[in-house]
Order: sequence, then C-alpha cells, then structure tokens
Amino acid sequence: MASTTAAQPTIELGPAAPGSRLPPGPRLPSVALTLAWALAPTWVMDRCAQRLGEAFTLTFAPSGLQLVMLSDPDAVKTLFTAPPDVAPSAAGTSPLAPVVGRSSVLVLTGPEHMRQRKLLLPPFHGERMREYEDTIVQATRRDMAGWTLGRPMRLQSHTRQITLEVILQAVFGVEAERMDPLQQAITALFEPLGVTATLRAVVSRPSMERPTGALGQALDRLDALIYSEIERRRAQSDLERRADILSLLALARDEDGLQMTDAELRDELVTLLLAGHETTATSVAWAIERLVRHPHKLQRLLAEIDAAADGGGDEYLTAVVNETLRVRPVVPVVARMLTQELHVGGYRLPEGTRVVPSIYLTNRNPRVYERPAEFLPERFLGNAGGRAINSFSWIPFGGGIRRCIGASFALLEMKVMLRTMLSELEPRMPRAQRALSVWSGRGGGDGGRGTGGGERIARRAITLVPARGASVVWERRRPSRSEG
Ligand code: HEM
Repeated sequence: MASTTAAQPTIELGPAAPGSRLPPGPRLPSVALTLAWALAPTWVMDRCAQRLGEAFTLTFAPSGLQLVMLSDPDAVKTLFTAPPDVAPSAAGTSPLAPVVGRSSVLVLTGPEHMRQRKLLLPPFHGERMREYEDTIVQATRRDMAGWTLGRPMRLQSHTRQITLEVILQAVFGVEAERMDPLQQAITALFEPLGVTATLRAVVSRPSMERPTGALGQALDRLDALIYSEIERRRAQSDLERRADILSLLALARDEDGLQMTDAELRDELVTLLLAGHETTATSVAWAIERLVRHPHKLQRLLAEIDAAADGGGDEYLTAVVNETLRVRPVVPVVARMLTQELHVGGYRLPEGTRVVPSIYLTNRNPRVYERPAEFLPERFLGNAGGRAINSFSWIPFGGGIRRCIGASFALLEMKVMLRTMLSELEPRMPRAQRALSVWSGRGGGDGGRGTGGGERIARRAITLVPARGASVVWERRRPSRSEG
C-alpha cells in the first residue's frame, strides 16, 4: 500500500467545475485520485485539506461518484442535526451494505431505521454495560496467557481475537463449544479484504447484490450458523431470564407490538458482530502503538492504573482512549445523502449530493486542536480542551441519530482491555522499529507529517489500521512499580 508519509506525486488542485455548486476538488485525473483514495485515503485527505481547506469534492472513476468532504465542526453540526429525511445516511451504498443486509440498522433510513435503532439501543445502555466488564477482563486474560514475552508480536491480531470473543458472548451468550465455528466464520469474512477487494469496492458502483466468491461463501457459512442459533433461541422458554443481546432482541417489540422477523434478527446480529469487534480491536492496538512511542505518557498511565487498584480514578486512561480515537480514528468518514438542497459549510449543496464529514480531518482540525497530529492525551484532561472539543469536533463515532450504537460499549471495552493488559505487562517498541525511527529522524514521537511518527496508517476495507499490526514487545511489569 502507498505510504502516507513517503514522497508521492503532488495533487494539483483545480477550481470547481463551471456552474457547479460543489466545493472545488483536486485536478488529479479521477483514475489516479481513485487509486490514491483506495490505497492511501489519509494522504488524499491531508493534501486536499492543506490546499483547499475545510470543504472539497472528490470525484472517482469510472463510477463518477462524487463526495463532498467536510471538516469544519459547524458544517458537521449542520449535517448531523439536519432532519433525517433531509440528510439520511448514505451507508446503503457502502460496500458493507450487502454483507449486513437490507434490514440492518446501518443500511435502513427513515422510520424503519428509527424502529430498528430503538429495538437495538437497550442492550447498550447504562447498567447493562457493567455486566460486560467481567467478560472483557476474562477474554483479555485468556489471550494474554498465550503471549510470548520479550519477542515482537502483532498486537492487532490478538486484540481482534479478544474483541471477537467479547462480542460473541455479549450477543449470543453461547457456551464455549458453540463459539468456535462462529469465530471461524466471522474471521473468514475478513480474510478476503485485501488490497484487490478494496480497489474493487472503490471503483465499482454501489450495489446490494450479495457478494460471491470467498466472501460469499464465508457469508453463507455465517448465515447458516446464525439462523440455526435464532431457531434454537426462539424455541427456548427461558429468554426472559437471559441477558444476552440475541435473547433481548428476540423478545423486543416495537411500538406496534411487533417482534423482529428472523431475517431482521440475522441482519442486526451480523451488523453487531462486524461493527462491534474489528473497530474496537484496532483502536486498542492504536492506543498501544501510540503509547510505546510516548514513554512518559505510558509511565503516567501505568502509575494511574497502579493507583486505581487503591481506589484512584481513571481520568488519564479515559484521556488516552479519547486521544487515540481522535488522532487514529478507525473509521475515517461517514456519509449522508441530501434529499434536498442544503446550505452547509458556505455552500448550497444540491439534492443528491453525498456529503461526507471526514472524521479524520475534523478530529485534526487545526482551529480546534493545537499541534493536531500529535498524541497529547492531556488535551482531554479537566477543561484543557475548553468548549472547542465537543460532539461536532471530536467525532470518532459519527453523530446525530446515526451515532454509533456501540460507542459506550466500545469505550468501556477499550478501557478495560488496556487496564487488564497494563496491570500485568509493559509494552515497548521492537528494537528494529526503534532503530528505524531514530535513523529516519522521527524519533518515537510526534514529528512526521500527518502520521505523527510511528506505524503508517494503512487502509483495511473501510477502516484505518496500523500497517504493521501494532508491532510491540511485552515485558512483565517490575514489582517496584506496582508497589510505587
Ligand atoms: C472504537 C470502536 C468503534 C468505532 C470507532 C465505531 C464507529 C462507528 C461509526 C463512525 C459509525 C457511523 C456513525 C454515523 O454514521 O454517524 C458507527 C455506527 C454503528 N456502530 Fe460503531 N463503532 C465502534 C464500535 C461499535 C460497537 C462495539 C458496536 C456494537 C456492539 C457498534 C455498532 C454500531 C452500529 C449498530 C452502528 C449503526 C448505527 C446507526 O446507523 O444508527 N459499533 N460506528
């Protein structure tokens, strides 16, 4: 994949097309832009933001698809708070749509979306969250038991295992022996997501056709397992006593007293399984990737975790999580489709425009964040960020009525996983990477253009991941520190 930092061809920017009411876009031929977007989306966003500011238009080939990208928090607010019938989600045209299905809360719009969203929200609220905490600790400890200390490992593949186990238990509450096939089926779903698949997804027209090939086969296997679990569950009489999400959804009724159909249940379960594990796993991997390059911040966090065992708080841990999600958002953009003209970001955008708040650029808007590319958890402590950091300038979970349903779950899971790992073990950068970063003059710290040093931001399907899978060496914590 292309690098976000290496020398790359310059993007020449041209004026808006005559008569167009869209913001200007790069002059780069659409084919080249499409390739660059597929391979290095953060590089495209950084360059366009530098030259064009907070609103620009990307045009892709051969589809002709246009995205108007925004990163001004006021414009983001206008869009997120616009009536849902004026700016509904454009996720129906995402490559994820045919996988999660037509009835998925991710894909639906209008009243149907609200119905599904209301049915899904209760398991992700308040007190229920605490019930998941123990599951997260246990899954993390189980995986850690297999780690080889003192040798480099790709943390992301481990965090993925942990979050997959957690989401399976939260969703199905299934006994361990039935989890293996489900785990394998979901893992298989992610395997075909290489560069070729990403390119194909970017160049082809959006479609709801069920995927074929390896992805289609993996989906068939997953569906068979899910439908048989739904059938088994519907036949059980103790659903009221069960706390797992499938049981809650199987019992849930909408305002008209109607239950979800099997197909609706299937689509929501696949949505939760896919949306609910890879994202969190990658975010935890990014957090460690950032911390090992900022040893003072790591030490401050370790000290807080030790103090928490004696009743201290978790303010710095929360700040580390918030800052990781700001500077390394896993989902780079969200999309809305205008059904009528909307005045946003200084433009009158016509009906039919796909408007895309760039999470990546908004979270780094230099009008809001000082030294935006740097990893500075301190900006989230107390009132350090002032009122400028708010739900329209820090948007890792999107916003408005489409804001991520699992945001509280994900924040809890990130904190519990990090606390569990760092209570026992201490991470450091592998020696080879340390040497490389010193040699390239970037140190471990905050230099680099856009990436802030460290592992390159690579694209994996619709997510942004550390190019080396968050390569890290773990050592057992020295007792003196946990006594201190
Ligand atoms: C760090 C982890 C996560 C990140 C960064 C993340 C990010 C996002 C983003 C950006 C959206 C789109 C929001 C919009 O269009 O405005 C979204 C939607 C969604 N997410 Fe997450 N997510 C995470 C974890 C989770 C988890 C753990 C679950 C469930 C267990 C989940 C379930 C969903 C669902 C169901 C939607 C669709 C909401 C709707 O359209 O109404 N996500 N997420």
